[in-house]
Amino acid sequence: MKVLVIGASGAIGTRLVPQLIEAGHDVVGSYRSRASAELVRALGAEPIEVDLLDGRAVHEAVAGIEPDAMVNQATALTDVNFSRNLDRSFNETNQLRTEATDALLAVAREIGVRRFVAQSYANFRYEREGGPVKTEDDPLDPRPVETMGETVAALRYLEQAVTKAGGIVLRYGNFYGAANDGLIEPVRKRQFPIVGDGDGVSSFIHLADAAAATVLALEHDGPAIYNIVDDDPAPVREWLPVLADALGAEPPRHFPRWLARLFAGEAGVMLATEARGASNAKAKRELGWRLRYPSWRRGFAEAYATEAARNEPVSRSTHRSAA
Ligand SMILES: NC(=O)c1ccc[n+]([C@@H]2O[C@H](COP(=O)([O-])OP(=O)(O)OC[C@H]3O[C@@H](n4cnc5c(N)ncnc54)[C@H](OP(=O)(O)O)[C@@H]3O)[C@@H](O)[C@H]2O)c1
Repeated sequence: MKVLVIGASGAIGTRLVPQLIEAGHDVVGSYRSRASAELVRALGAEPIEVDLLDGRAVHEAVAGIEPDAMVNQATALTDVNFSRNLDRSFNETNQLRTEATDALLAVAREIGVRRFVAQSYANFRYEREGGPVKTEDDPLDPRPVETMGETVAALRYLEQAVTKAGGIVLRYGNFYGAANDGLIEPVRKRQFPIVGDGDGVSSFIHLADAAAATVLALEHDGPAIYNIVDDDPAPVREWLPVLADALGAEPPRHFPRWLARLFAGEAGVMLATEARGASNAKAKRELGWRLRYPSWRRGFAEAYATEAARNEPVSRSTHRSAA
């Protein structure tokens, strides 16, 4: 198939393009900033510059390519300052998830694109009641925290628009596996504490496994929604010390809720104490997906081995390399 990867220069796009080529597809990869053109070309895709928030440009570009399939991986999260107000941090990403989704679906319909897959998110989506791990059939949170209301609404909008058009929505867990993952710096600087009892459950996914699931989804008929997460949803109190250790950082601090609220706002406290994780059973069953990194327990250690070495005092790294 001729596959158009929207956001080919991003964290997931850069892992997805080589896997699609490996699977025998012809890939065109979109980007926004000029600097990304060479990266997309080096990955083996034909690069195309498109501003997704310019409806006419989207139409012209996609109609000119005439892809058989499209996958939308565009977000605007590079160097985002995660403030106490999550909606402020996600403002541009929310526009991409609503306006750009509409523009992409409209041209896809017009030119008869056969498959449409879009990025969504699994963590903080599900109802904060009942068991710790949720399936795609479980209800979404009916009362999202106020400062993340627009972000949650944009994800819902995207999911409804894509499935209504017959497409596939992938609710990814937290990405990891790149040297510039967003959690690395805060964890290394001990700015990411365990809040209260650390009961909030997170689902993770290694970028290589996320890309593999996406290739399979592109070869599958929709409409459908899949959680693309690993086998091991876990509370913050479990995964955060393991991540800190993998990065060679000091163990995380412990904050009471009231203190965390001052720094991270209500959304941060909710994620750390009440969020639910997601089950990947449906994606495994229906897509035939097999994970290379079934748990972050091994995945963090492998992904961040060099990060930890860079962060270690000389005596420790000397000792280890001599071992
Ligand atoms: N599920 C998750 O945990 C999750 C999901 C998404 C992102 N993240 C994290 O967020 C961080 C940043 O993500 P990222 O590396 O994917 O970068 P990003 O800045 O979110 O960009 C992603 C892609 O979207 C493109 N893009 C952004 N705005 C656009 C626009 N207006 N028009 C057209 N294309 C546009 C980018 O192009 P350019 O490269 O040319 O700017 C890039 O190809 C990473 O650490 C990543 O792991 C996590």
